[in-house]
Order: sequence, then structure tokens, then C-alpha cells
Amino acid sequence: MNKKVTAATLIAAKQQQQPLVWLTAYDAGSTRIAEQAGVDVILVGDSLGMVNLGYDTTIPVTIEDMILHTSAVMRARQSAWVVCDLPFGAYQQSKEQAFATSARILQETGCDAVKLEGGVAMAETIQFLSERGIAVVGHVGLTPQSVKRFGNFKPRGNSHEEYQSIYDDALAVAKAGALAIVLECIPDDLAAQITQQINISTVGIGAGLTCDAQVLVWHDVLGLSEHTPPFAKPYANLREQATEAIATWANDVRNHR
Ligand code: KIV
Repeated sequence: MNKKVTAATLIAAKQQQQPLVWLTAYDAGSTRIAEQAGVDVILVGDSLGMVNLGYDTTIPVTIEDMILHTSAVMRARQSAWVVCDLPFGAYQQSKEQAFATSARILQETGCDAVKLEGGVAMAETIQFLSERGIAVVGHVGLTPQSVKRFGNFKPRGNSHEEYQSIYDDALAVAKAGALAIVLECIPDDLAAQITQQINISTVGIGAGLTCDAQVLVWHDVLGLSEHTPPFAKPYANLREQATEAIATWANDVRNHR
């Protein structure tokens, strides 16, 4: 069995400049495969809504959806650190609401940490949760739960103003006590500056190679997605292979083989 990953592992990895591997997973079977492949951190992302539940955005995902899928991951988990996304509407109203949702998720699933989107605006909430013993992961840059506000899923930080505000967001999240921070779709040099400036692990997705860790969505890394984002390199072509396999089997059935 791989060595158990804990919050202390994340801190040590940052100090020793040892890159950590994060991957999304949403069920027990994929968790077993991810652990066999040596993944350090499993993120039960609310991308669940888009890759598995058929929604166009992450906004319809509920606390119950996250609990169902995180519980499945936890039944298979042996060594990875497991992070569950707080879904839209379940934490933004107040720090008390964020605490109640996080406590429920931690108690009902047994996972290790929660992740929430937002920078300066969420710093007080992150501090409130951290001071009460909850391991929090932040998420800045492209924050998919704000898609209705921005109108698209395009990269962030390309204007001078946005560049500076993402930098401020990341520093605020780190100062508030988060244990790690996802940097999604921001310029490489901005991610590099943030990584150098803060003492918590930066987890890049479309944010260059200098981050302390990298995260990808299960479907993107395996080539299962209908549309793979430009920054994600598929390491297999399972969508095509699965289609071919099922078509071959269907053909056998139809030909009495
Ligand atoms: O929901 C998710 O899968 C995420 C990753 C893309 C970081 O937040």
C-alpha cells in the first residue's frame, strides 16, 4: 500500500519541492485505479456535474450529490488525501453556512478536506473554517461556479487588473489558513510568482509547470471527454477504445457469436 497522504505530506512536499499528483475521481472503481497509479490526492470535484451528471455547468450540483460520490470514493480510498468540493450555494452565504456544510460533508463522508472557490471575498470564511479545525483548499483564477457572472470558461488574468486581483486573491487565501490552492487557467508567470510567494502548495490546472502540484479531471487525462480543454494532455484515448470495444461486442451479439 502507498504511504498515507496527510496535510503534513502537503507541507513537506512544498518545502522539499516534491511535485504532488492530484486527480479528480467520483466513484470507488476510479479511486482504486488512481491509487494503484500512485496518485497522491483525489479531488471529488464538482466537475462531477459536467462530466458525470450531464449538466452544462457545475451550478446544479447539490450537497447530496457531493456526499454520495465522496462516500463512494472513501469506501475505496486507502492512502490518498481526499478533498471534496463545496458545491455552489452551500457556502457563499456566510462563514457559518460554510462551516455547517463542511462539517456535514466531513462527518457523513469521512473525507480529509473541503475545497471552495474564491479569493479575497472568501478569506474570512477560510480563516473561520481553518481556525475550527477544517482543512481547506482554495481555488482562484477560473472559478467555474462563477460562470454566469463571467459568461464563459475562458482563461483569466490576461488583463493587468485581473492579473493583479488573482495575485491578491491567492495571497489572501494562503494568509487565511488554506492548506493548498488550486490555480485554474491563469498565465504561467502569474502562477510562478504566486508559487514563489506563498508557503502553501499551489495546484495548477492550465497554469504552467512551476506549480507545486498538478491536477487534471479524470475524463481529460484518459481521453474520455467529448471536448478536452486545450491545456489538458490526454495520456490515453479511452473514449475511442470504449466505443470500438462496445461496437465489436454489439456486432458479435447481432451475429450470434
Ligand atoms: O471540480 C473540479 O474538478 C475542479 C478541478 C478542475 C480543479 O475544481
